[in-house]
Amino acid sequence: MHARAETLLLLVAISLLSVLPWHTLASGGGGGKPLVAAVTKDGSTSLYTVAVKDGRPLALDLSGLLVWSTCDASHSTVMPYERECIEANRYTPPSCWMQHGAGAGAGSDYRYGNKCTARPYNSLTGKCAPGDLTRTSLAADATNGSNPLYQVSFPAVAACAPESLLASLPAGAVGVAGLGRSELALHAQIAATQNVAKKFALCLPSVAVFGGGPFVLIFPYWRPDITARLSYTALRRSPELGAGGYYITAKGITVNHQVHQQLALPNHGPLVVQLSSTIPYTELRPDVYGPFIKAWDSITEWPKKVTPPVAPFELCYDSRTLSSNRLGYAVPEIDINLEDGATWHIFGGNSLVQVDDSTACFAFVEMKPEKVGYGNDAPAVVIGGYQMEHNLVVFDEEKQQLGFSGLLFGLQTTCNNFNFTVAA
Ligand SMILES: *[C@@H]1O[C@H](CO)[C@@H](O)[C@H](O)[C@H]1NC(C)=O
Ligand SMILES: *[C@@H]1O[C@H](CO)[C@@H](O)[C@H](O)[C@H]1NC(C)=O
Repeated sequence: MHARAETLLLLVAISLLSVLPWHTLASGGGGGKPLVAAVTKDGSTSLYTVAVKDGRPLALDLSGLLVWSTCDASHSTVMPYERECIEANRYTPPSCWMQHGAGAGAGSDYRYGNKCTARPYNSLTGKCAPGDLTRTSLAADATNGSNPLYQVSFPAVAACAPESLLASLPAGAVGVAGLGRSELALHAQIAATQNVAKKFALCLPSVAVFGGGPFVLIFPYWRPDITARLSYTALRRSPELGAGGYYITAKGITVNHQVHQQLALPNHGPLVVQLSSTIPYTELRPDVYGPFIKAWDSITEWPKKVTPPVAPFELCYDSRTLSSNRLGYAVPEIDINLEDGATWHIFGGNSLVQVDDSTACFAFVEMKPEKVGYGNDAPAVVIGGYQMEHNLVVFDEEKQQLGFSGLLFGLQTTCNNFNFTVAA
């Protein structure tokens, strides 16, 4: 072919590419690049979603074991003997058996019959429902760590769920993207299909990156790779507390760096700390919450209190009597001193939440008795969404460690500064 014609063809091809919808550009293939998804925080439920299912949102659940959603009537099914079916049924929340029984109905034993039944679980309502395991496709954008590059659609195994299981999810959400410790969790399926690391990073309330790689925001202007600045602690498992969740352990909690404020905590073992994307604010077990809020209150005596406080909080302040620094309101620092030496710092930007124009509340709540259960065996602390916001938190299942940046305001940036413009 004539060289000029070739060039022309190439140009035509390039301009065609740029007008075609992205999904025609790449599919599956395991490009070896991490994927990025924009996270949206729902105002009324405070839940976080990613629109990876035909552009429709799935709620992120750090203890969810499956990806599940409502399905079309014509969905495909997985056979009961397939690996994915066995994995999907490896762990079933006990409440599912209570709700649906071991012997009731078709598919109650997933190994028999001609299709696989899974039990998608809604951790907000504690409800589950039997549903077919199906093969579907999800989509997100390949990323080099600072921009999306092109859209990738990839095959995934998901459970079908009835509409009724969507209760308590954000309006418009069609299911849940489990990010827990299962081969069928979203990040594990991305790792398997994209040939990337089995790890993911959350920069709530705005970004999720699956598969590792650098993480670079528009600011600060020297654009450091934020993953190079993380502290690490070991990730633990806790079959007793919930097979799917992420746990770390702490020696204690200090308020305002003061050793004498190291909380006198009742039991002497390490404090188990869980991370949850489905509770809006950090919850503390009552035996930990009591001394914690007392220590905070005794140190934070200068701002004017607002009474009665705004539910669900117990301490609220007239925010005009608080001053600010680059880490948010200038209030005492809370440190979760982790067992292996690192510290999870909580500054004003994560410890106080603005509830109206002139009121800011201490954004921690006491764990409800039904979550504590008998025997006080719930985690001492469950870090909720608000306390993770504007921190980069990396869940690395390959190294079994949790990486965390601390509040990004310290670097003069926020999680809203990811550049979602597709790089040319
Ligand atoms: C990602 O690609 C864009 C566009 O080519 C480039 O400007 C940016 O520096 C790249 N980022 C990284 C971290 O390599
Ligand atoms: C965001 O990325 C695009 C594509 O690489 C680039 O043209 C643009 O300048 C970036 N925006 C900022 C604010 O850096």
